[in-house]
Amino acid sequence: MNTADSSAAGNAAPKKDPWDLPDVSGMTVGVLGGTGDQGRGLAYRLALSGLPVIIGSRAAERAQQAAGEIGHGVEGADNAECARRSDIVIVAVPWEGHAKTIEALREELTGKLVVDCVNPLGFDKKGAYALVPEEGSAAQQAAALLPESRVTAAFHHLSAVLLSDPEVTEIPTDVMVLGEKRADCEIVQALASRIPGMRGVYAGRLRNAHQVESLVANLISVNRRYKAHAGVRLTDI
Ligand SMILES: NC(=O)c1ccc[n+]([C@@H]2O[C@H](COP(=O)([O-])OP(=O)(O)OC[C@H]3O[C@@H](n4cnc5c(N)ncnc54)[C@H](OP(=O)(O)O)[C@@H]3O)[C@@H](O)[C@H]2O)c1
Repeated sequence: MNTADSSAAGNAAPKKDPWDLPDVSGMTVGVLGGTGDQGRGLAYRLALSGLPVIIGSRAAERAQQAAGEIGHGVEGADNAECARRSDIVIVAVPWEGHAKTIEALREELTGKLVVDCVNPLGFDKKGAYALVPEEGSAAQQAAALLPESRVTAAFHHLSAVLLSDPEVTEIPTDVMVLGEKRADCEIVQALASRIPGMRGVYAGRLRNAHQVESLVANLISVNRRYKAHAGVRLTDI
């Protein structure tokens, strides 16, 4: 038996089509650290898909200025207001500011669907390498700091350059989505799937987030070697 093949598990109940995802139109998406490359790119793509988007910053004016530059109805606010007004909150701050940022927003993030896209990486003269957070991964750190939130992890492998480029109309790549609750993961999968070319794919529980976050170190090596903006495509699904 192929141990990676769950079809051999023998579940008798008829299963829901795994590609049948919920309708997320109307949900407001917030992006903490949305003034940065990744946050701007995600905000641009999700707003283009028709969703209301609010980017957050440590300074409201910076967020408002960046929101004006992104256009497509994107609004800017400080991180706390961004979290308060959003249904889904993407965390797109550097690893160095991860714990401090989300810990300070525990109240605003209560009950919210949090999507962590942070890759804990170090850089030296040999290139990028994965850091190992005490909790196991950035996503597990978020889950530990936000016990009243619904923490998921996704969007780690996207190129901010491609996301932000208006000439790029499709981004053919998969987004690995991790979390403890299948329904929450499906919302995030649906979010990713609103971006033309992208598929949101369920990829396991948060205890397996470290590998997904770390893979970015490899993608950075690929990008340097081949002068590309490589992403991930999962085959046979
Ligand atoms: N860039 C990519 O292609 C990419 C792809 C996938 C995932 N990611 C992940 O997404 C996250 C953001 O990446 P990025 O390239 O957008 O980073 P970035 O531009 O360096 O930072 C994003 C924003 O975070 C805020 N920030 C900076 N330092 C902070 C701190 N110490 N505490 C709290 N907020 C801080 C800043 O906004 P304000 O000053 O306005 O508050 C900044 O504009 C990273 O964790 C990265 O691993 C990036």
